[in-house]
Amino acid sequence: KIGLAADELQFNAFAVGGFVRDLLLKKNNLDLDIVIEGDGIQFAKNLARKLQGRIKTHERFGTAMIMLPDGTKIDVATARLEYYEYPAALPTVELSSIKLDLYRRDFTINAMAIQLNPEHFGTLIDFFNCQNDLNQRSIKVLHNLSFVEDPSRIFRAIRFEARMAFEIAPHTRRLMHNAVSMQLFGKTDDPRFFSELKQILSEEDPVPAIRRLAEFNLFPFLWPELKPHLKVDRRFLHILHQAQRAISWFRLLYLDEPCHNWMVYLLAIMSRSPDEVLTAFCSRFQIPQKIADRLIWQKTHAEKTANLLSRREIIANSEIYWLLKELSIEGLLYLMALARKNQVKKAASNYVTALRYIRTDLTGDDLMALGYRPGPEFKMILNDLLDARLDDRVHNREEEIALLHR
Ligand code: CTP
Repeated sequence: KIGLAADELQFNAFAVGGFVRDLLLKKNNLDLDIVIEGDGIQFAKNLARKLQGRIKTHERFGTAMIMLPDGTKIDVATARLEYYEYPAALPTVELSSIKLDLYRRDFTINAMAIQLNPEHFGTLIDFFNCQNDLNQRSIKVLHNLSFVEDPSRIFRAIRFEARMAFEIAPHTRRLMHNAVSMQLFGKTDDPRFFSELKQILSEEDPVPAIRRLAEFNLFPFLWPELKPHLKVDRRFLHILHQAQRAISWFRLLYLDEPCHNWMVYLLAIMSRSPDEVLTAFCSRFQIPQKIADRLIWQKTHAEKTANLLSRREIIANSEIYWLLKELSIEGLLYLMALARKNQVKKAASNYVTALRYIRTDLTGDDLMALGYRPGPEFKMILNDLLDARLDDRVHNREEEIALLHR
């Protein structure tokens, strides 16, 4: 249907980027990126109509996004012939627009296309020997100015390298080191930096990539305030590994409850630095205030609670419940990562798997029916009942009523 929608308008349509890379690697990728030689928006409107999808267009950039009823996302872009935009990098004027489009991309592994028009459907377009690099598992830029044009690509190289167990090629590595030492990214307000970091921290195992960020000397850029506190030493790596263990443990509970893994890792990275460092990080990368406040609160509260729990050998379930109640799942996993003592980890896992679900049988309505009137005492009675339930002193409605009358 995509090819037909393009043929109708006499445009060439190509699948490009990560979709092609993952297809050649036989990996699933549900995000389809399409480039159109022609008018991308007109094409996207035509396609959305055919597929009964919702469409969002950005006329200024000639791009559109189509959301299909089954949740598939299709990004459409227009391959433009604006040679004059890159005079230094591109002396060639005879490039076809798809070739130019591919040449402007980050790495060769992401610079292949597959034609979608019916007549040539499935033809792989590979102008720059990209498939060879993919087979060699090598990450290479297409030209020397790639990181100058877009320094956030440094983070992408590290992410792809770690995720797919590829290797950044020596020349590209040198360009990355140069870009870092030239301090190409003075402007941290570019949202692409945080977005890329967040993606690194959302990978299955971000620890190798975090080590690589340090090797490329990117920590001073990400966390300039962290200098006195942050060393990529054993304790630092230990906390990161513990964060990973906590996240895997939580995933294996199959709870169908969302968890922002990147938050757990970000907290773990900053565990040995004061709150102000996290505050500064959030404001430098323009993290929305609501998320920043939440992160900072979780950090303070998890650290305080981990400390408190580590000083207590025996602690009642009810006490664990009230101590951990306000922590989000990210805060709880961070607390588990921080724990030096087993009892702390146990308390948190007990809370996550059991305590937080415990409820009393009696409700507020029941109490009213029993003659209690709402007020401050009312809440206290309900909380006392919950404590009894948490500490296994009562087990059902009858025992709860008996406790009330005691
Ligand atoms: N791209 C680029 N420079 C960037 C970001 C993206 O050249 N700074 C290009 C790459 O060709 C990339 C495509 O845009 O393949 C789509 O980008 P994105 O969706 O961010 O990445 P994917 O390659 O699809 O990777 P992922 O699987 O992580 O989504």
